[in-house]
Amino acid sequence: MQAIAVGADEAGGPLKEHLAKYLEEHGYEIRDYGNGNDQDYPDVAAKVAEAVSAGEHERALLVCGTGLGMAITANKIPGVRAVTAHDPYSAERARKSNDAQVLAMGARVIAPEAAEKVLDHWLASEFQGGGSTEKVEKIKEVDAEFRGEDAGA
Ligand code: RB5
Repeated sequence: MQAIAVGADEAGGPLKEHLAKYLEEHGYEIRDYGNGNDQDYPDVAAKVAEAVSAGEHERALLVCGTGLGMAITANKIPGVRAVTAHDPYSAERARKSNDAQVLAMGARVIAPEAAEKVLDHWLASEFQGGGSTEKVEKIKEVDAEFRGEDAGA
């Protein structure tokens, strides 16, 4: 597997550090896009999502206060499917059903040990294909249709 991208804003820094260490202890290579002392969540989410879109990472983990702003921003980058998930089932379905490359979590929402479990399920799950393929293709069609255009509010 390619290195897993990790990044955080100031609010997400400590949880990101905890999870990056956890990933390394479990044999994953990581590429760290920083902790947000000089970057807000849209800055780091865009940077990481651009790298995912360019094929540099199959998976990325973003941590902010809630996991919401990171996912919203990452989903603006063409080809990127980002989710906020704080429970193992959603994390698993995000891979199996939605082929999400980016997982966002909130340091103000979830405890470090619970976040490890969510991460475990996300990493252990792969896109299931089958009936989900057509649906993910439809996401890609929407992405292509509106790319570059003013999406308004
Ligand atoms: C702090 O900027 C906080 O708004 C941020 O970490 C995140 O929760 C945004 O979605």
